[in-house]
Amino acid sequence: MLKIAVLVSGGGTNLQAIIDRVQDGSIRNTEIAVVISNNYDVYALERAKLSDIPNEVVSPKDYSDRAAFEAALLEKIKGYEVDLVVLAGFLVKIPEAMVDAYPNKIINIHPSLIPSFCGVGYYGIKVHEAALKRGVKVSGATVHFVDKGTDTGPIIIQKPVEVHDDDTPKILQQRIMEQAEWLILPEAIDWIAMGYVKVEDGIVKVDKSIGTE
Ligand code: GAR
Repeated sequence: MLKIAVLVSGGGTNLQAIIDRVQDGSIRNTEIAVVISNNYDVYALERAKLSDIPNEVVSPKDYSDRAAFEAALLEKIKGYEVDLVVLAGFLVKIPEAMVDAYPNKIINIHPSLIPSFCGVGYYGIKVHEAALKRGVKVSGATVHFVDKGTDTGPIIIQKPVEVHDDDTPKILQQRIMEQAEWLILPEAIDWIAMGYVKVEDGIVKVDKSIGTE
């Protein structure tokens, strides 16, 4: 059984997709051990409560400096003894100590086709504003492992989504969530839980024949 922590900052629609797919069995062999938010009063926490999933807030506002917040966040995650940390709209730069503690055991969903529209400053609606400003005809989403850079870790799965001429950032964001994010983040967790995913020299290899012989 893969024990996961899901880290959130906001509405939690990606968290909901994970909860739903665990419940309907399409994410196999996985237990959501805890949902952790860096913000109080976000709807993602309600989603966890509604599904009886342990939930916690580790807010930078409760700590004297960034280092103390980062240490508390890491200690909180470690306390749940999870195998995988899932960043589902968690808009906090992951501290290096956390990457060291969980090498290739932290995954992130990013709402573009990396390496486009990613890196420092590209998060949430800003990603879609930038994509529309550039006039791309295809965008999408990416699930990747987290390394010490911003959106630079090994790519696990990507899904393209069409951009329409009359899109606004919000319309494009919603389409990318519906047609890509809510599908590929659960799928990546399932693949990892099933042992399909290996990282070799920074490149992800997915072998779905494992365990089926
Ligand atoms: C999602 O679109 C996710 O891809 C994005 O934040 C949104 C969270 O929505 N994440 C990033 O931009 C990470 N750089 P949600 O709270 O409804 O899942």
